[in-house]
Amino acid sequence: MIVTIANSKGGSGRTTTAIMLAFAYSRTHRPVTVIDADPQESATIWSYLARTGGHRLPFAVIPHPAGSDVASMVERAAPESIIIVDTPSHDLPFVQEVSRVSDFVLVPTLPAATDYPTTITTIRALDAPHAVLLTQAYRRTIAVGQWRRQYEKDGVLVVPTVIDHRQFFATIYGDHPPEFLGGYEDVVTDLDTIIDLPQESAAGLRNREAWEDKQGASLFVGLGERAYCPIYDPRQTSSPAP
Ligand SMILES: Nc1ncnc2c1ncn2[C@@H]1O[C@H](COP(=O)(O)OP(=O)(O)O)[C@@H](O)[C@H]1O
Ligand SMILES: [Mg+2]
Repeated sequence: MIVTIANSKGGSGRTTTAIMLAFAYSRTHRPVTVIDADPQESATIWSYLARTGGHRLPFAVIPHPAGSDVASMVERAAPESIIIVDTPSHDLPFVQEVSRVSDFVLVPTLPAATDYPTTITTIRALDAPHAVLLTQAYRRTIAVGQWRRQYEKDGVLVVPTVIDHRQFFATIYGDHPPEFLGGYEDVVTDLDTIIDLPQESAAGLRNREAWEDKQGASLFVGLGERAYCPIYDPRQTSSPAP
């Protein structure tokens, strides 16, 4: 299964998401490979730093060799493995090409107006089922609910789990995380549910209502309590945070 992490905006949390998801998938005992398709090679450097620090990562990070294309690398990969592709910013044609060989594209974004235009532009370029992952989010702020609602209004599925802004993520670069995965283990659980749903078309993943209409069952009920976590429920955001 190929999960591509993409957002045309730099700093949106692609590399952190790619690597933390790789850790989280590894913990579910599935073989994982990260393809680092970003010429900045942040994921590759992460793995290099970990190795030189004496912590071999539980998955390989393959730098995208010049001249070879991601599609052919993906085709050669073992079918049972999870392949996570980290992508560059500012290269939508490339991201679109990679999306065509992906089972799913996860679009990390800050719940903020600064990130909205680029995130929407990225989503429009995708040729695969996809969802937005709200990251670097400040809990108990109205922004989380507001931006979740905005993306859903745009017909974009938003992963129920939200990744908080934590100093932890800044300190983990180039290292092996402790037990704590900052919520990415819940993202894997969400993706297992979302990706397994039958998809009628590449543009299949739409908003909550569209899914419920199509599936005849509620994805979000399936995902349980977190989908309606009051902290992230826009209906609750006018009341003061506890
Ligand atoms: N949830 C988070 N909380 C705090 N800092 C984060 C979080 N996710 C990423 N960061 C930090 O934000 C910066 C950009 O993240 P990164 O994953 O490198 O983004 P990209 O690959 O999209 O450029 C990095 O310094 C990273 O450590
Ligand atoms: Mg990066």
